[in-house]
Amino acid sequence: MRVLSVASECAPLVKTGGLADVAGALPAALRAEAVEMRTILPGYPAVMAALAADAVQVMTEHDLFGGPARVLAGQAAGLDLFVIDAPHLYRREGSIYLGPDGQDWPDNPERFAALSLVAARIGTEGVTLGGQLWQPQILHCHDWQAGFVPDYLAQAGGDCATVLTIHNIAFQGLTGHHMIEPLRLPRSRFHAEGFEYYGKLSALKAGLMRADRLTTVSPTYAAELMRSEFGMGLDGVMRARRRDLSGILNGIDETAWNPANDPHVPEGYRHPAGKIPNRDALRAEMGLPDSAGPLCCVVSRLTEQKGLDLLLEALPTLLDRGGQLALLGSGDKALEQAFRDAAREDGVAVRIGYDEALSHRLIAGADAILVPSRFEPCGLTQLYGLRYGTIPVVALTGGLADTVINASPAALDRGVATGIQFHPVAADPLAVALDRLCDLYAQPDIWAQMQANAMRQPVGWASSARAYAALYRDAIATA
Ligand code: ADP
Ligand code: GLC
Repeated sequence: MRVLSVASECAPLVKTGGLADVAGALPAALRAEAVEMRTILPGYPAVMAALAADAVQVMTEHDLFGGPARVLAGQAAGLDLFVIDAPHLYRREGSIYLGPDGQDWPDNPERFAALSLVAARIGTEGVTLGGQLWQPQILHCHDWQAGFVPDYLAQAGGDCATVLTIHNIAFQGLTGHHMIEPLRLPRSRFHAEGFEYYGKLSALKAGLMRADRLTTVSPTYAAELMRSEFGMGLDGVMRARRRDLSGILNGIDETAWNPANDPHVPEGYRHPAGKIPNRDALRAEMGLPDSAGPLCCVVSRLTEQKGLDLLLEALPTLLDRGGQLALLGSGDKALEQAFRDAAREDGVAVRIGYDEALSHRLIAGADAILVPSRFEPCGLTQLYGLRYGTIPVVALTGGLADTVINASPAALDRGVATGIQFHPVAADPLAVALDRLCDLYAQPDIWAQMQANAMRQPVGWASSARAYAALYRDAIATA
């Protein structure tokens, strides 16, 4: 089965969040299911630089929204790629989504419409690779950046099946309707059953209305998306398409995230006790003293979604009990400053920035990982925590609800707990959860049992890869 994955970011080449991890991991995970997945990416400088020298040109566009473009086929970081080399759209330094002023690049609508248009063209015509026609049977679109794929495909007369995965419904790719013609879309689809969204043009809605199948990254988020608290204005669309919607949990890359063999971690370990030298090293690195309470970590974008303002409020409860916090994150400037200020307290260490190696040392060395998100489609850091025996303390929402077994009396009794969940998502319940964390940490037998359970929980891609392969087969059969 041939699948083209359409993504705006893909680890390890270019990453701003979990979407990149997922796009980067899917091809290898699906190989075991006899799925041949190629990925199409914008030719950002980092992608162009990583592309192997033997990449070949497979397509030309004379005018891809304001300039010429070539489509290259080649390998990078073990991935089979199509890369759109369009310097007028993608050759820019800095963030892939934001200009130097911190605002979206003004031509983001064109930049990602270009990604979608070229993907649809490959879906329609196929490309010649090594003298043979390679034509996908499925276009697997990720988030709003690939939302117009089904419309472009329909316009071009292509007949491959389309799957759209929602990684985060908060990002919808909205733009004024004056962009309909510049984006080469039919105005006849500018209505409530098409891509119109409260008078604007919505790339995500376009895909939600027209893709053959919709998925999101956890079963609980799939259910939440149909409710107004989570649907961000698209819950009606999700309800209307509920029969085509499924929730398939993300896995993690178990090679990159393996406590027994992690090049970023001072001492590899297979058992929870092996964490101790890593915790000592982490405390030394972060300038934290020894303490009787749990060392908690956070690795996160600092945004409203992640609920870390609640952690600032609940922090005294943790510190009063001898707990500590080590945080790595970046994003919202006010939150960055608030955490810098919090780091004046004893027992709190903060690093503002993005640091892959430090993220591994934090998760390996900490006793617990905190994820108090207001919503979380799947979340990956709690999964890293499980694999590393680092107990997750999470909000009861989205993928956090699906991947952590709360230490309720019954779960502790049966010896199956892997973490702590709290609800509703507010500062007080989080403080109660942190207090409970300290109680459990003070009971070495229970704590050791939770760590062992966590490390045993499957967090890889095997079962989700099977689910995607089944979904693709079904979509092909019924498209
Ligand atoms: P989201 O995609 O909403 O940001 P996820 O939990 O799905 O949330 O994925 C976040 C990914 O980004 C994880 O791989 C996490 O380790 C990584 N990450 C987030 N912030 C940082 C940071 N400051 N430094 C290093 N890695 C980070
Ligand atoms: C989004 C979500 C996150 C999810 C990731 C990968 O960024 O916020 O919860 O894990 O996509 O699917």
